[in-house]
Amino acid sequence: MICNRSCGLLTGAVIGAVLAIFGGALIPIGDRLISKAIKKEAVISNGTIAFDNWLVPGSSVYRQFWIFNVENPSEVLNLGARPKLEQRGPYTYRVRYLPKENITENSNGTISYMLPNAARFEPDMSVGTENDTITCLNLAVVVSQYNGTSDGLYRVYTGKDDISKTAIIESYKNKRNLSYWEGHCDLVNGTVFFSFIFRSIYGVYQTTKNVKGIQLYRFTVPREAFASPVDVGDNYCFCTDQVISQNCTLAGVLDISSCKAGRPVYISLPHFLHASESILHDVEGLSPNEEEHETFLDVEPTTGFTLQFAKRLQVNLLVRPSTKIE
Ligand SMILES: *[C@@H]1O[C@H](CO)[C@@H](O)[C@H](O)[C@H]1NC(C)=O
Ligand SMILES: *[C@@H]1O[C@H](CO)[C@@H](O)[C@H](O)[C@H]1NC(C)=O
Ligand SMILES: *[C@@H]1O[C@H](CO)[C@@H](O)[C@H](O)[C@H]1NC(C)=O
Ligand SMILES: *[C@@H]1O[C@H](CO)[C@@H](O)[C@H](O)[C@H]1NC(C)=O
Ligand SMILES: *[C@@H]1O[C@H](CO)[C@@H](O)[C@H](O)[C@H]1NC(C)=O
Ligand SMILES: *[C@@H]1O[C@H](CO)[C@@H](O)[C@H](O)[C@H]1NC(C)=O
Ligand SMILES: *[C@@H]1O[C@H](CO)[C@@H](O)[C@H](O)[C@H]1NC(C)=O
Ligand SMILES: *[C@@H]1O[C@H](CO)[C@@H](O)[C@H](O)[C@H]1NC(C)=O
Repeated sequence: MICNRSCGLLTGAVIGAVLAIFGGALIPIGDRLISKAIKKEAVISNGTIAFDNWLVPGSSVYRQFWIFNVENPSEVLNLGARPKLEQRGPYTYRVRYLPKENITENSNGTISYMLPNAARFEPDMSVGTENDTITCLNLAVVVSQYNGTSDGLYRVYTGKDDISKTAIIESYKNKRNLSYWEGHCDLVNGTVFFSFIFRSIYGVYQTTKNVKGIQLYRFTVPREAFASPVDVGDNYCFCTDQVISQNCTLAGVLDISSCKAGRPVYISLPHFLHASESILHDVEGLSPNEEEHETFLDVEPTTGFTLQFAKRLQVNLLVRPSTKIE
C-alpha cells in the first residue's frame, strides 16, 4: 500500500478530564487515624468515606475538547500537502456530576454499577459556544446523543479483601474480556479502563508531588504502553493495523476501527506524544509535551485515594486520497 503524505492522520479531538478532590475529609485521615481505620474507610462500601467520593466525585470533573482545524484543506485534498493544523479550544463540559446507578454490593468483594452519561456545557471555561462548528463536527449534537445514556455494567473490587485491588475493574458488561483484541491485550484489568478506546491501560509510579502539604504519588501511563511491538513485545496484540504502524514498527497510534463500526478511527496521546517521529511529521502544527499531554493519576499513598487526574487522548480519522477518478 502506498501511503503518501495526504494519507496521514487527521486529528479530531482531544478529550481530557481533570478532577481535584481536596475535600476537608481527607486531611484528618492522613495524620490521625491508624492504618486499620484508614483501610476500613478506603474500602468502597456504603458508609465509608471512599464510598461517598466514589458514588459522586467530591469535586468537579470536566471533559474538555480541543479540535484541530485544517487550515489548508484544498492543498491537502488536491495536492497531497501536509495538513496544517490549528488547535481550537477548549470546549469544556462538566461530567460525572450524577451519582452512579444500580449499585449492587456483592459478597465476594466486588461492587457493580452503571455510570450515567451526562454533560453540561461550561461557557466560562470555554473559548466559544458549543454551537461553533469546526471541521464538520458539532459538539452540541454529539453531546446531546451522549446525554441521558449510561455506560456499564462495571464491576470493581471494593478493596475489602485486598486493599491494593480497590477500584480495579473486575469486569465490564459482565465480561472479563473485551472480545476485541487477541490474547492478553483483551483482558479488562487495570484501573484506567477507557471504555471509549476499548483497551485497559496501566499507570506506573513516576514521582512524588507535594500539593497543599499533602504528599501525592503521581502515576502516569508510560511510553511503553503505546510502544510498537518491536520495542515492547507484549504490545503485539494491540497492533492490528499495518498501514499507519508500517507493519507494527511505529509507535503511538492505536487502531480501533473495528470497534467504531469500521470507521478508520485511531487513538493516540494528544499531539502524538510518545508516538514515532514520522507520524508527528505527517502533519504540521503539533507540539507534544508531557506536562500538557500526558495522562496521570495523583494518589494519596496512605488512603489510596486519587486526588486529581487527567485522562487525555486524541481521536484521529484516517483520510486517504480518493482512488476514484472523476
Ligand atoms: C446506603 O445505605 C443507606 C442505608 O442503608 C441507604 O439508605 C442508601 O440508599 C445506600 N446508598 C446507596 C448509594 O446505595
Ligand atoms: C437500573 O435498574 C432498573 C431496574 O432493574 C432498570 O430499569 C434501569 O434501566 C437500570 N438503570 C440503568 C442505568 O441501567
Ligand atoms: C463476584 O460476584 C458476582 C455476582 O455474584 C459475580 O458475577 C462475579 O463473577 C464474582 N467475581 C469474582 C471475582 O468472584
Ligand atoms: C444534558 O442534560 C442535562 C440534564 O441532565 C442538561 O442540564 C444539560 O444541559 C444537557 N447538556 C447538553 C449539552 O445537552
Ligand atoms: C446552541 O444550539 C442549541 C440547539 O440548537 C440551542 O438550544 C442553544 O441555545 C444554542 N446555544 C448557544 C450558546 O447559542
Ligand atoms: C480471555 O482471554 C484470555 C487470554 O487470551 C483467555 O485465557 C481467557 O480464556 C479468555 N476468557 C474468556 C471468558 O473468554
Ligand atoms: C493484565 O493481566 C495480564 C495477565 O495477567 C498482564 O500481563 C497485564 O500486564 C495486565 N494488564 C494490566 C493493564 O494490568
Ligand atoms: C509490510 O509487509 C508487507 C508484506 O510483508 C510488505 O509488502 C510491505 O512493503 C510492508 N510495508 C512496510 C511499510 O514495511
